[in-house]
Order: sequence, then structure tokens, then C-alpha cells
Amino acid sequence: MSTDKNRKELLRKLSRNLMVSVPMMTVVAVAGFNASSGPGLGLIPSAEAAQGEAEGEAKGEAEGAAKGEGEAEGRAEGEAEGRAEGEGEAEGKAEGEAEGVSAKLKKAVRRPEGYTPYQGNVADLRAKGEKLFNDTSLSSNGLACATCHANGAGYNATFKNEYPHAVAMGKRDFGMDMVYLDEMVQICMVAPMAAEPLEWGSEELAALTEYSRVQQKEFIDKQ
Ligand code: HEC
Repeated sequence: MSTDKNRKELLRKLSRNLMVSVPMMTVVAVAGFNASSGPGLGLIPSAEAAQGEAEGEAKGEAEGAAKGEGEAEGRAEGEAEGRAEGEGEAEGKAEGEAEGVSAKLKKAVRRPEGYTPYQGNVADLRAKGEKLFNDTSLSSNGLACATCHANGAGYNATFKNEYPHAVAMGKRDFGMDMVYLDEMVQICMVAPMAAEPLEWGSEELAALTEYSRVQQKEFIDKQ
């Protein structure tokens, strides 16, 4: 099914992004970045550097070399530089069309400091959210949220958990250990929808978040 293929392709591209950074501009080039590389790869402010063992099977536009016990410097798409400390050793050469998630987008899907969500009438937000959920113009690739998530499809079991909680995509592609629901909306905007994140504090984001809560309830009730 083409949607599924699309999604896989996008996710594959995302996972090929080799750069992991933290807001403090610690940017780590890790080759062979994947979900199983362990905790050190996160964008957790406290974990300022990657510690994983990235085994150099990395490919992508990024090239980087990370050295264990030491530091590493890497460059990706010429826009980021940084330092990594860890035990791993990695070297990767990038190949290809992968664009990955830029450090900028990784930051953009996180709640900004002092963030106050848009406050509105819940029923209105839900109604607006439902429209947006079905709106393909939100994405750059012709998908709507509903393309993947109609009738409770496309969610993993984590969706049953109270937010914030861990979500595989958030961890793997954005280095986030925990995500809030509105952050999850932003992640799906940026990754599968290949779009810019919504304005934090916007009615749209609040509406989609609120509607996602409805989705969550249906998802839980269906189990
Ligand atoms: C191309 C398919 C695709 C599209 C389009 C998509 N998503 Fe997702 N979404 C996923 C996948 C895959 C997951 C499961 C991620 C995981 O568990 O790692 C997911 C998970 C979620 C979750 C639940 C995460 C959890 O477990 O807590 C929410 C909420 C969500 N998406 C909202 C949205 C919204 C809102 C949109 C539209 C802005 C959207 N998604 C568009 C593929 C998609």
C-alpha cells in the first residue's frame, strides 16, 4: 500500500540522519544511528553527548567520526559541528538522498520554554481538530493525519499511556525520551507529514492536540 510505503520511506530517511544534537549546540555525528544504539543518543539536555557505540555502518550526507573515551567532531550537511564523548567508535560516509531531521527541526518539535498552549473551548477545538486531521494541505506530501490514522490505525501500544510518555519515533528520530501529546503532533507534522511544525501556541496545534486526545480515548476504548 502506497501510504505505508511512503511512511516507511520517510521513516527510513529519518533514521538515516546521522546528526544528533542537543540544544546547547552539542552536536554529535554518529554513524549507524539507529534505535537500538542505546540511551546516549538522545537529545536529552542532561546527556550532552552520545555515548553509544555507533558502529560505523552509517551512510548519509553526514560524515562523522566519533571516538570513544574521547571526543568526536563531525559535520553534517555543513551546518552543524559538535563534540561527542562516548565509548563507541564510528565512522560513516553518507550516501544518498537522505535528508534526515535537521537539528533545527529536532528543536522545533519540542515545547519551547515557558510555553502556554492556546486556550480555547474544548468542543470547538475538537471540531477544528477533526477537520485538520483530515486536511491534506497540512503536509507537503499529500498526506493527512487521517491517511495513516483513520479508525485508530497506525498507532502503537504506547498511545494508551498517559502523556508525557516514550514513543519510539520520538526517541529514534528526534532523540526524545518522553513526548507530550502536542510534541507528538509536531513530530508527526515534521516526520510523516514532511511539513514545518505548527506554530506553538496556535489554535491549530491546540485543535489537533485536542482531537488527538479523542483519538487516544477511542484507541484505549477499542482495546
Ligand atoms: C505517514 C503516516 C503518518 C501520518 C500522516 C501521521 N502519523 Fe502519526 N504516527 C505515525 C506512526 C508510524 C506512529 C507510531 C509512532 C511510534 O509509535 O513510534 C504515529 C503515532 C502518532 C501518535 C501516537 C504516539 C504515541 O504512541 O503516543 C499521535 C498522537 C499521532 N501519531 C498524531 C498524528 C497527527 C496529529 C498527525 C497529523 C498531523 C499524524 N499523526 C500524521 C504515522 C503517521
